[in-house]
Amino acid sequence: MSLLSTKASCNTHGQDSSYFLGWEEYEKNPYDEIRNPKGIIQMGLAENQLSFDLHESWLANNPEAAGLKRGGQSIFRELALFQDYHGLPEFKKAMVEFMSEIRGNKVTFDTNNLVLTAGATSANETLMFCLAEQGDAFLLPTPYYPGFDRDLKWRTGVEIVPIHCTSSNGFQITEDALEKAYQDGQSRNLRVKGVLITNPSNPLGTTTTLKEMNLLLNFIEEKQIHLISDEIYSGTVFNNPGFVSVMEVLNNRSSKNDILSQRVHVVYSLSKDLGLPGFRIGAIYSNDKMVVAAATKMSSFGLISSQTQYLLSAMLSDKKFTKTYISENQKRLKKRHEKIVVGLEKIGISCLKSNAGLFCWVDMRHLLKSNTFEAEIDLWKKIVYDVKLNISPGSSCHCTEPGWFRVCFANMSEETLDLSLQRLKAFVSEFNLIKQQSSLNSSSIIKNSRRKSITKWVFRLSFDGTEREPEQR
Ligand SMILES: Cc1ncc(COP(=O)(O)O)c(C=O)c1O
Repeated sequence: MSLLSTKASCNTHGQDSSYFLGWEEYEKNPYDEIRNPKGIIQMGLAENQLSFDLHESWLANNPEAAGLKRGGQSIFRELALFQDYHGLPEFKKAMVEFMSEIRGNKVTFDTNNLVLTAGATSANETLMFCLAEQGDAFLLPTPYYPGFDRDLKWRTGVEIVPIHCTSSNGFQITEDALEKAYQDGQSRNLRVKGVLITNPSNPLGTTTTLKEMNLLLNFIEEKQIHLISDEIYSGTVFNNPGFVSVMEVLNNRSSKNDILSQRVHVVYSLSKDLGLPGFRIGAIYSNDKMVVAAATKMSSFGLISSQTQYLLSAMLSDKKFTKTYISENQKRLKKRHEKIVVGLEKIGISCLKSNAGLFCWVDMRHLLKSNTFEAEIDLWKKIVYDVKLNISPGSSCHCTEPGWFRVCFANMSEETLDLSLQRLKAFVSEFNLIKQQSSLNSSSIIKNSRRKSITKWVFRLSFDGTEREPEQR
């Protein structure tokens, strides 16, 4: 009999997903321009490393904050002592102002409705604990961020029911898909407690349309359930249409409904917009006082350290810095995005049209041996082990169509991105060559088979360029 809890020994954490396995493979053989130029390039990590110079120059110009001083005096002792779990008031103020600024100051946020958490990971899980019981369900549009299987389900026992979205309409949420997911939840005897979206979407890199948002608000109003909008990528929108928060849509609705507004909750973090995932800065914003109170108590399990709050309150209160950072970071993301989209196009690979995020949703359906998830994993393994690029297969994001991949572009230098495109180009050229040879061979086989009608020969498509013996069927 195990002395461990079922939670400790179960595998519902999702660690065995190809999303995390790709990271493990990368860790074993990471690319480095000098030390390991043939290693795996990490393109499966949604990190934003494009604007570190802006943080660094701010730090150099503001030694007081980084040195934990106020008015020339050290505040080390103050910060080192016990922290009230409500968070530092000046940091909460700076955080809500930054959130408004990202939303073009079209919405304002009240610090009393904000709960600080150790990243969006903790914010999402805390909301599950506040809104659902074990065995209840949340509906999530597919494809979705693979970490949600861990964050929403693992410790809470909450279930995820997919809202199946497809490429036929650019993976947008439809009324039918929403209703179908709700019915699926009910037929699995799950109590559906809400819908969770990411806006902008990870992995699509698209912003939620107004039509979708109104559809979602009408839906949760009718079903009397919650809506969580994970807006962790709100500051990464680099092209039109600009970012619109669900809070803005809610405020602009003609019929004001307090109950509805209490059922809408926003998750935020500085991991993507400010590129600081290591600092663990997240937040829940809710108009429901009970949710705020419960989440604040729960935040004891994942607080943001005092020195981080102190440093970031100084940085985010510097309006000159935030203004420059937001616009410069978006410019750099836009340039990077263009580079990868054009680079991929040149090798015959297209991406879903996107306007946000740190990744592209890449269509590699034409490189599959068959229209199956097995073929998708085969292709993924080729790309990880032979081409040496760690990208994330769509199946790890619960996409219902095989052949889509999430490819990150902001966690590396421009030179590394160039190299990754060169590697992919070589792979696709070889693929096309083998495909050509294979079809030439099969047409000669057809001719031969007319002569030798007893035996049928089929050439297997080989990615590694080695000539394979024809297989006998
Ligand atoms: C949609 C989404 N939510 C939450 C997270 C977790 O973010 P954090 O680092 O703030 O915990 C991520 C990270 O990739 C994400 O993409």
